[in-house]
Formats: sequence, structure tokens, C-alpha cells
Amino acid sequence: MRNFLIAGNWKMNRNAAETATFFNELSADLKKVPNGVDVLICPVYTSLQAAVETSSKINGFKIGAQNMHFEDSGAFTGEITADMIRETGADYVIIGHSERRQYFAETDETVNKKTIKAIDKGLIPVICVGEHLSERKENKHFDVVKHQVVEAYKNVATGDVSKTVIAYEPVWAIGTGETATSEQAQEMHRFIRSEMEKLYDANTANAVQILYGGSMKPENAGELLECEDVDGGLIGGASLKPDSFLKMIKTASELKK
Ligand code: 13P
Repeated sequence: MRNFLIAGNWKMNRNAAETATFFNELSADLKKVPNGVDVLICPVYTSLQAAVETSSKINGFKIGAQNMHFEDSGAFTGEITADMIRETGADYVIIGHSERRQYFAETDETVNKKTIKAIDKGLIPVICVGEHLSERKENKHFDVVKHQVVEAYKNVATGDVSKTVIAYEPVWAIGTGETATSEQAQEMHRFIRSEMEKLYDANTANAVQILYGGSMKPENAGELLECEDVDGGLIGGASLKPDSFLKMIKTASELKK
């Protein structure tokens, strides 16, 4: 069956020194990632190296970036390539986070290009999808998420889907303290998996990890992770402190599917 993936998205927080402190503290209580759980932190670019080095004390811990460009090089001021991310020792990259879509002109097309490039370069893309509150109120949330998933996976081969992760992050639940109920999360995760089955096949759809993101924290992680199709979390605020992040890793390891 699928491993859980407990992933932290640090957004624009934690410089290199703070990153090292985080991992020094975490590694005092965690020597090895538990069986059946994958664990990932995605810091800012300038903290990637420090994260790779200081997380190496925790066996199996993974590091990722929060974005990348889809070209291999060129005149793209302020951007970074997949190879440059790989060079730091990182294994994952978040693609299409709603904050990138909202503030930095990320589109379904660039998400697709980045997804294909990440796979090609050996990075695992964590592809973010999710509806705005107005779209849910208008009952368009399934259509919106379906469209995002279909566009993201255009020209992605069946055999490559296992090298990707999907994160369902309802925009109205991000940083608001408002979490989707476990019923809402399960309903959408099930829907995404059924769409993946239509795009590919049942085995492929059953193997892909689908994370929930949006105000996940130790207090609500258990009920969300208990849902059949919720395979982990993409966690913002509650991933910034070692004790709270560790609690969610432990919850996942106790619930092992
Ligand atoms: P919060 O957990 O802070 O709501 O952020 C969720 C998120 O956007 C993770 O990518």
C-alpha cells in the first residue's frame, strides 16, 4: 500500500542558521524516519544546502524546493533550474502551490511544463491543486480540481506517475485556521483518485500519494490521516516547529495503513 508522506512547506520562513537549529532539535528526538512514512521539508532555496546537511542525521529524511523553472538555463532572472535543486541534494519540488498561482502568475500550463521537467531531472514534483472558497460555494470545486489535475498530467507517462505526488489544498483552508472536514477531504481525495484512474488505470491511481494541505496541525492530523484516500499532509505553519512536526510524524506512524 501507499506510504504516508508528512511534508512541511516552510514558505518564506527560516534562514540557513534557523534551518540547522530546527534539524539539530528534531534529530535529538528522531534518528530515523518511521517505517511506512516518508518525511519531507521544503525550505527556501538558500536554506536547501543547510537542510540537506543537517537533516542527514535523520535516516531517510527528504528535502525539497518550493518551486523551479521548466527551462534548463537562460535569461530568467531570479529563477532556478531542476539541476540546481538536485545539486543541493534535494529530491522533491513543490509545483503549482496556490500562492504561486495567485501571486506569481503560475498557470496550469507552467505547472505541466514544470512537472514534466522535474520528472525528467529526477525530482519528485508535489503538484498542488485546490479550489477557492467562491468556487466551492458555487459547487464548482470538483470541476476546478479535475481541470487542474488533467492539465498537470498532460503528457506524463503512466510509468512516471509513481514519481509524482498530488497535494489537495483548498485555498480557503490555507493559513486561515479553517480546515476541511475529514469528510470534505476524503470526498475530494477519492474524486482525485478516480480521475487519475480515468487518466491512467486503477493500479496507477491506487499507488499515487495524495496529500491534504490547509491548516493541518497535531490536533487535527489524526482524523485527516485516518481517511482512506488521505496519504499525508502538506503542512505550512505547523511544520515550522520541531515538536509540532514530530507529533504529526508520530501520528502517521501510529496510523500506518
Ligand atoms: P498552512 O498549514 O499554514 O495552512 O499552509 C498550508 C500550505 O499552504 C502548505 O503548502
